[in-house]
Amino acid sequence: MNLTIDTARLTRELETLATFSDAPQPAVTRIVFSEQDLRARVWLKQLYVEAGLDVREDAVGNTFARWRGTDPELPAVGTGSHTDAIPHSGRYDGTVGVLGGLEAIRALKRAGFQPRRSIELLMFTSEEPTRFGIGCLGSRLLSGSLTASAADCLKDSDGRTLDEVRAAAGFHGSLDSVRLDPGCYSAFVELHIEQGPLLERRNVPLGIVTAIAAPASLWVTIEGEGGHAGAVLMPDRRDAFLAAAEIALALEAAALSTGAIDSVATTGLCEVFPGVINGVPSRVRLGMDVRDIDPERRDGMLGKLKLACGDISRRRRVTARIEMINQDAPTTCAPAIVDVLAATCEKRGFAFDKMVSRAYHDSLFISRICPTSMLFIPCRSGFSHRPDEYSTPEAISQGTLVLADALAQLAC
Ligand code: GLV
Ligand code: MN
Ligand code: MN
Repeated sequence: MNLTIDTARLTRELETLATFSDAPQPAVTRIVFSEQDLRARVWLKQLYVEAGLDVREDAVGNTFARWRGTDPELPAVGTGSHTDAIPHSGRYDGTVGVLGGLEAIRALKRAGFQPRRSIELLMFTSEEPTRFGIGCLGSRLLSGSLTASAADCLKDSDGRTLDEVRAAAGFHGSLDSVRLDPGCYSAFVELHIEQGPLLERRNVPLGIVTAIAAPASLWVTIEGEGGHAGAVLMPDRRDAFLAAAEIALALEAAALSTGAIDSVATTGLCEVFPGVINGVPSRVRLGMDVRDIDPERRDGMLGKLKLACGDISRRRRVTARIEMINQDAPTTCAPAIVDVLAATCEKRGFAFDKMVSRAYHDSLFISRICPTSMLFIPCRSGFSHRPDEYSTPEAISQGTLVLADALAQLAC
């Protein structure tokens, strides 16, 4: 099959998608169900229709664009990723998997290929946890990893429920209907930037993902006592922020103590109440993210954090309450899909590394309902979740070519 990728068009489309943003270029901010997200969805759906795909959206806004196979009753082959972007991030995270997936389908069509199984491009709603606090919202619901009733309770920072927000965005119906039957896909492959430095450092153009690390995230709310920054004497203070600072350091120490490069922990959110320069903080909420490829080691870090919260809050005479948001199992990718990707790279003369993903992806959840793997392309210096995230058009094109070829084999 004479497959060619229209790299110029794909590059232009990535540029256009980046303009649907609440942050000035080169930064991208595209929060789920914001006006920019909704505008981006309209633009994307137009591209899907132009490519001759049948478009369906579910009650949470997951979008499916299907190229009907000659045997449409067979389980389909899926590909795709997400297009939401955390505040002040870059233009390639997720988008390469959606627009690259679309270009892979267009390339197969141009080459005259006719799939036996349908090939379906998915755009998952809210892979990023920014608005509702939990990552991979759409793929959790699709895979039955999050119940509809638990999702119904989610609220954004303005106190608006997921139900309200999705209805305002035009997505109606029970969230129960989002769940897919296991067996609806025979295979799923997600193309994504690596978000780490290894491929670039080793000068290897492609990574094939064999496992995805286990993510956990949690809130820690610390309550102390507020007061006048000038008048409350130091020995009398029960400063919630200072306790929070120690708790954040304790989490770092827990991650470092494993001695494993795969143990990572981040305190990315710190809300200070009342948040004034001349007031002692009375309440702090920390948003923490803890991951490891080994779930027991990850849970060991969480155990150390809990002990530290107890010690620090006793010593500082505050209270610290932990609320787990998610504590997911890792996944091992399907050897059969890994093998197809590896054979495709070999056939096309591309070197590749097998690697684990420390970032999470919708594939973590889709792997629970069908055989799944991911294809990584290098990104400059491993930068991601920042405005200078960058992958070369050549890297994106190579990833798209291998994706297209692999989809064709999986759809036969
Ligand atoms: C996904 O964006 C992640 O945080 O791994
Ligand atoms: Mn991301
Ligand atoms: Mn992503």
